[in-house]
Amino acid sequence: MAQQQGDNLRHARTGIELRPGLDGVPATKSAICDIDGEQGLLTYRGYPMEDLAVNSSFLETAYLLIWGELPTDAQLQAFEHEVQMHRRVSFRVRDMMKCFPASGHPMDALQSSAASLGLFYSRRAIDDPGYIYKAVVRLIAKIPTMVAAFQLIRKGQDPIQPRDDLAYSANFLYMLTEREPDPRAARIFDRCLMLHAEHSLNASTFSARVTASTLTDPYAVIASAVGTLAGPLHGGANEDVLAMLEAVGSPAQAGSFLDEAIAAKRKIMGFGHREYKVKDPRAVILQSLVEEMFNDFGHDDLYDVARAIEEEAMTRLGPKGIYPNVDFYSGLVYRKLGIPRDLFTPVFAIARVAGWLAHWREQLGANRIFRPSQIYSGAPPRRWTPMEKRAESPAD
Ligand code: SDX
Repeated sequence: MAQQQGDNLRHARTGIELRPGLDGVPATKSAICDIDGEQGLLTYRGYPMEDLAVNSSFLETAYLLIWGELPTDAQLQAFEHEVQMHRRVSFRVRDMMKCFPASGHPMDALQSSAASLGLFYSRRAIDDPGYIYKAVVRLIAKIPTMVAAFQLIRKGQDPIQPRDDLAYSANFLYMLTEREPDPRAARIFDRCLMLHAEHSLNASTFSARVTASTLTDPYAVIASAVGTLAGPLHGGANEDVLAMLEAVGSPAQAGSFLDEAIAAKRKIMGFGHREYKVKDPRAVILQSLVEEMFNDFGHDDLYDVARAIEEEAMTRLGPKGIYPNVDFYSGLVYRKLGIPRDLFTPVFAIARVAGWLAHWREQLGANRIFRPSQIYSGAPPRRWTPMEKRAESPAD
């Protein structure tokens, strides 16, 4: 039971104050990732993001996140080999995807196909380390294949099979575009995946941990997280950023666009973050990757628009601690790689599956089901009203 006291909503029994959006409320203990939002610092298992983004690979980073330490050479080779062996998806999954509407959003296709894996691997042995390892490998291996398969299926083509001679990121780009990517482009993409792999208790990871806490299967855990990532306030923002850059059209329009949006209280996509009060360190690295990409493969004028928006936003939003986040520059890299705009968020999911799985494992290691309380704000107890005595209530 709970009650309202003035403007503050406090739980009557515990006295705990309601914090909308759980702002600042610790909801778990975690050893996976740390963010210093004042300094703009991000570490995975203690390693600075800047260090990993230069020296590591996505699969090595995924291993680090999930198992806690950087792998030895033999461990990494074994992990890479296992992932490579499990890239293919059953023809039944592909056939199921052929029944999806081609106009449907790829995030919905991904959520459904990720959940469907639970039908194929239905053993739920979450206290068996062998089962956990296999589930980790399967999800990291198959999610990119499913994203690429839906892209070809919706164009009326048959999905192409993974190529065993290609590394993880190069293989995804190959399955998607049907062309073997330039190694420099594949490396830049791999670095993007590392940057997106994990970010503490963000909305989708919280979703994953809540689902994990019920001891359901890992495919349901990942499917719930994919659904959460899809929203425009979270991972879905990377798609909207590109639409915004196109709508703004030229650097000269950036200032008036911001003024109008701010006056209308519209959010600037790719800006703002609950944790960061400075520019997201991932946006800093992504911006350098954008420049690397354009140096190697040609300029994109939308980058000039993006830079103008960032510059104009400094005086308008900077004083409130609102700066570019991870979603602001990523789309420019993906666009140059030939990735369609509505696949930007599925690409985010390909990377984030590593973080979600790390949190799944951690949750299982010290599990207690998530079951917060609420401040009840509804009608007081009352008697059932017979039909003839009911007044018409306003529709929602
Ligand atoms: C991701 O949490 C994570 O770690 C997420 C993520 C990850 O790696 O998992 O980093 C990935 O989700 C990045 C965020 C992508 N979303 C967007 O880019 C959408 C636009 N940004 C926002 O809507 C917003 O900034 C959030 C959702 C990211 C954060 O929301 P909060 O913390 O609840 O902040 P808020 O909406 O309550 O805003 C606080 C104030 C408000 O002003 P006041 O009413 O106090 O005057 O800041 C303003 C907001 O209007 N504000 C913005 C703004 N973001 C916040 N104003 C204009 N444009 C914005 N983008």
